[in-house]
Amino acid sequence: MELIGKNLEFARKALMDGNLVAIPTETVYGLAANGMNADAVVKIYEAKNRPSFNPLILHVESILKAKQLVIEFPPAALHLAEKFWPGPLTLVLQKKDIVPDIVSAGLDSVGVRVPRHPLTLALLKSIDFPLAAPSANPSGYVSPTTPQHVAEQLQNKVAYILDGGKCEVGIESTIVKVNGDEVTILRLGGIEMEKIKEVVNEVPWARLRFHAANEDQKPESPGMMTSHYAPRKRFVLGDVAENMKKFSGKKIGILSFHHQRTLRTGIELVLSPRGDLHEAARNLFSYLRMLDESDVEVILAEPVPDKGLGRAINDRLKRAAAD
Ligand code: TXA
Ligand code: MG
Repeated sequence: MELIGKNLEFARKALMDGNLVAIPTETVYGLAANGMNADAVVKIYEAKNRPSFNPLILHVESILKAKQLVIEFPPAALHLAEKFWPGPLTLVLQKKDIVPDIVSAGLDSVGVRVPRHPLTLALLKSIDFPLAAPSANPSGYVSPTTPQHVAEQLQNKVAYILDGGKCEVGIESTIVKVNGDEVTILRLGGIEMEKIKEVVNEVPWARLRFHAANEDQKPESPGMMTSHYAPRKRFVLGDVAENMKKFSGKKIGILSFHHQRTLRTGIELVLSPRGDLHEAARNLFSYLRMLDESDVEVILAEPVPDKGLGRAINDRLKRAAAD
């Protein structure tokens, strides 16, 4: 059997045997295991070299299946799920005891989401357990948006990579914690903050806050470390023209939003020549990888407009630039 393919039956069997399978989603590829089998879930932490305090998301095929994993589905959560599932939204809710502690890293809440990818939805319908899956990259590195990205780094750790092509959204899900009437955005992602706000505002009593993870606070979402999505190369975020002067002796790689500069040497990748934030999100991680794998010595990136998906992109760029 080839490592990468579309064989759903093979993927299903590997998961039933407690092995790891990389799965496509609309956001990024996930490294999946049977979420009810603690021994299988351990393998995820090992393969990614992921700190044991960082909990995993459970992927299910429907709201009904999500309800079976949590104690309560408050009105705001239900409204968000009805609006955005299947799609790039993760809801963090109070978990039931049937969810193994290793999935939630000992927390009493669990992240659940219904991904929007036909192959993975078909796979989920063929099994009777949820799939625990973080992004399929070594902990701290750039997330994978193609099956090849997964193979480059985890080929010896997965039984199979289900080939769903290039991810349509390209950045991870928006994570929203709902506790009664209190709704908290824990991670910016594929659903714009503006849209979450709109939907939460339609729910009587519900209050929305945004929990920006930063260095000074213990993050409410344990995975929101300051440094993340980080290329191995030196990565500098800021005014590219200015930084080009600063690094003029070096071979430079540039990641720009939509306008192309003329470079004498080095590489420039433009996230979206037409200035579209969705296109930029779709290209972000693969362009970061390309620059990281090229022979440039330093990568210079500029922030994108800070609205809609741009906020989530800037969040990734900031973390990529942090030491
Ligand atoms: O789009 C996505 O969300 C992708 C695809 C594969 O679904 N998954 C993903 O997983 O990005 P991961 O593990 O790379 O990021 C999940 C984030 C982590 O920062 C983790 O700390 C947070 O979700 N998280 C998970 N469960 C949580 C919980 N119970 N409370 C707070 N944060 C939680
Ligand atoms: Mg990740």
